[in-house]
Amino acid sequence: MRRLQNILVTGGAGFIGTNFIRFILEKTAGFSGRIVNLDILTYAGNRESLEDLEGRYGGERYFFEYADIGDRAAVEAIFERHRIDTVVHFAAESHVDRSILGPEAFIRTNVTGTFALLDTARNYWREAGGALRQDVLFHHISTDEVYGSLGETGAFTEESAYDPRSPYSASKAAADHLVMAYHHTYGLPVTISNCSNNYGPYQFPEKFIPLSILNMLEGKPLPVYGDGRNIRDWLYVEDHARAVWLILQKGRIGEKYNIGGENEWENIKLLRVLIDMVARKASLDPEKLRGAITYVSDRPGHDRRYAIDCAKIKGELGWKRELGFEEALGRTVDWYLANPRWIDGIRTGDYRKWIEKNYEERR
Ligand code: NAD
Ligand code: DAU
Repeated sequence: MRRLQNILVTGGAGFIGTNFIRFILEKTAGFSGRIVNLDILTYAGNRESLEDLEGRYGGERYFFEYADIGDRAAVEAIFERHRIDTVVHFAAESHVDRSILGPEAFIRTNVTGTFALLDTARNYWREAGGALRQDVLFHHISTDEVYGSLGETGAFTEESAYDPRSPYSASKAAADHLVMAYHHTYGLPVTISNCSNNYGPYQFPEKFIPLSILNMLEGKPLPVYGDGRNIRDWLYVEDHARAVWLILQKGRIGEKYNIGGENEWENIKLLRVLIDMVARKASLDPEKLRGAITYVSDRPGHDRRYAIDCAKIKGELGWKRELGFEEALGRTVDWYLANPRWIDGIRTGDYRKWIEKNYEERR
């Protein structure tokens, strides 16, 4: 079992990073170390998502550092100030549609930013004789999208060839290759996880599930791309956090681990389930919500199907998905219903403007 003391979480103000920090500070036994959340607070980052934890642990076990992962001087200073021994690298531009409209930020953060972070870790962890410390870890959070698109059968394994098809997935694939290159060339102790679609609290409402929930509550159209039959494998975000935690403790250096929900849904079928759930919980008319479903033009290069074979992480690390889909989706809907203040905070950014532009362009 690896001893983790000072963990640098990049992108901790975003959706999965926030849930991960909540998970390790509040739901794990045996971790008494410190979390440093490094985030530049793009439109997708919200410091308020961790306001309560900042109150409980701030200055002792939790620290927020406002910085760009690509800013070498700032990141080096953070490594030194907090004596970082573990990196969990979530920070990224994460939305496929935005990568189609403006790929540059994806290359800057996901590729160049990851490179800068890797190089900073390598310099900071170099010992006097030049060798790299081996009691440290750089864990890189990646996506199943690096593997491309599946046909009707099969699932991605850790050996599947990379075949990214959007600027987003290409930038994540490039980052994965850099991480492995730093391991093979310089001996940096790394692990990578490639996860399927996450859902849960604190997800920015440009992604399918939270966008659909909020549009239902606001009486807006429910956009479905193409024929609505693209398939995604959905995983509750806390199950992802638990998987990452296991990899940090026991994952083998230089290995990749696929993480998935074994829970495939066609978009349109998922939307119908979500409509029934939101209608029930928010006392809305399900017929009216179904009438709001609007087929819009397809995402260019839209991957048809993702599915993950997660036998490796289950067999090696004993991970499994804990919550059933209905229950976890119910918790997600409950959270959005209970947190209008968080949503209002998000609205001050370009959220609604961008969503509406994206929608208008697809009609
Ligand atoms: P998100 O967009 O919600 O959050 C990204 C966070 O990174 C934000 O807080 C943002 O401010 C921060 N950030 C962006 N650029 C930065 C920079 N240059 N320097 C510092 N901070 C920066 O993303 P998410 O959905 O939480 O995804 C987190 C990670 O997980 C990403 O690497 C993504 O590729 C990966 N992933 C996401 C999913 C999913 O379903 N959401 C699934 C698999 C993998
Ligand atoms: O598979 C992991 C990936 O999942 C992560 O790497 C990405 O960061 C994350 O954003 C997510 O990518 P997707 O493109 O699959 O997620 P998104 O929520 O954008 O879309 C899910 C599906 O729903 C996809 O087939 C497109 C479709 N869609 C999406 C939106 C926003 C719609 O039909 N209508 C919509 O309004």
